[in-house]
Amino acid sequence: MDTLEELNRKGFVDEKIDPTLDLFEEIERLKKEKNAIILAHYYQDPDIQDIADYIGDSLGLSQEAAKTEADVIVFAGVHFMAETAKILSPEKKVLLPDFKAGCSLADSCPPHLFRKFKEKYPDHVVITYVNCTAELKALSDIVCTSTNAVQIVESLPKEQKIIFGPDKNLGAWVAKKTGRDLVLWNGACMVHEIFSREKITKLRERHPKAKFIAHPECEESVLQMADYIGSTTGLLKYSMENDAQEFIVATESGIIHQMEKANPDKTFIPAPPNNNCACNDCPYMKRNTLEKLYLCLKNGYPEVTVPEDIIIEARKPIARMLEISAKMGL
Ligand code: 13P
Ligand code: SF4
Repeated sequence: MDTLEELNRKGFVDEKIDPTLDLFEEIERLKKEKNAIILAHYYQDPDIQDIADYIGDSLGLSQEAAKTEADVIVFAGVHFMAETAKILSPEKKVLLPDFKAGCSLADSCPPHLFRKFKEKYPDHVVITYVNCTAELKALSDIVCTSTNAVQIVESLPKEQKIIFGPDKNLGAWVAKKTGRDLVLWNGACMVHEIFSREKITKLRERHPKAKFIAHPECEESVLQMADYIGSTTGLLKYSMENDAQEFIVATESGIIHQMEKANPDKTFIPAPPNNNCACNDCPYMKRNTLEKLYLCLKNGYPEVTVPEDIIIEARKPIARMLEISAKMGL
């Protein structure tokens, strides 16, 4: 068993697991014993998606975290998602299988710098993408996700000036869709910035009937080529509703598991990155494994906590997002 210091260094409980254990059965048993629920993002490993009680995008996961009656939430996702769950359900214990499951986009917007940025635009409303720290949410007026960003911006009067952060690509796409002039923070996601327009073009030549679908965190040059742009849930729905047999998918590769489950006869090709690495695997999302999930449920940590003053401030913009989304049937 790790000491707390070791756990902090490694980010997860590094305990030997009996190789004869059926982890799926053990996780089910522990879930009942502890009245726990497993919430998983679409970018998680297929094994984790298959054992989760709820799989979804960032909006669905926060809606689920707000309404669950479980005592423990095991968040199979990244740190900002687990923080959001804690902010919405502060009385619950929120566990993250690997504490180091962070986010390059959240890291690209340090709150102390954002505070100064915000001071330059005192008459602007601040909309922040949920992929940011709890501290940043506490500096915001409304939070959004990729599912509702357009509607959240449109819910404000046309003349209202807006700062949008931290994702400049999502912000530019929302600005284009809404015709609004948004002040953008210069942040981005390392996974979605890596797709190569040239390699996608060549791939499309080899698969002329394939639809090219992309997440709005991708760069504008890639989004310009897309047949459809949407959140992970949007991309999944499109793959189910569109008649095409082949899809080239520009987002993290984990979503392909649900696409293949929902469409066993269709083919899904991950969009190629601009080098030979497996860069459309998010290195943060993929820190979580079934073993780490089992160990955190068994041991009750790593646990995500948020200071009370931040919970109070960050809850307001998240609640506003959930209210607007509910009104719009999202
Ligand atoms: P959505 O699942 O909300 O589209 O978000 C994608 C993402 O980057 C999560 O980290
Ligand atoms: Fe963050 Fe990008 Fe990973 Fe999503 S895919 S968690 S935005 S680094």
